[in-house]
Amino acid sequence: MKWDSSFAIGIEVIDNQHRKIFERLLAIENSIAKRDPWHVLHFLLSQLAESMKFHLAVEESLLEVTRYPGLKGHLESHTRIIDQMAELEEKLKRDPSGESLVGFFEDWFLRHVLSGDRDYADYLKVEFPAICRRKAA
Ligand SMILES: [Fe+2]
Ligand SMILES: [Fe+2]
Repeated sequence: MKWDSSFAIGIEVIDNQHRKIFERLLAIENSIAKRDPWHVLHFLLSQLAESMKFHLAVEESLLEVTRYPGLKGHLESHTRIIDQMAELEEKLKRDPSGESLVGFFEDWFLRHVLSGDRDYADYLKVEFPAICRRKAA
């Protein structure tokens, strides 16, 4: 997998966070391919969890202050991602072949970024265009 500009949803601060998470997923993929010992993988997974939790909290605040109508469903999707991350760690511990990571990549990217996040980005572009134009610090 490679980062593609089509993954961008058009809100710079969010796109930067998505990209960082994507890069951390790639680092895990590489670590699996190199058959790194478990403690290395564990460290990379904790880094992923850290940037993911931060990102989800930023999105949740953004959607609350802008009164996004789909907030409830979006929050539920975030809870699922946190659960899936815990499952991913368990699966990789049992079988570090990378199969479970492929599933997580697809789920996270296809459902979260390319679908769920795009929906709120469409709402913000209409209702709060200034937020979408703002450059990331
Ligand atoms: Fe997101
Ligand atoms: Fe989200």
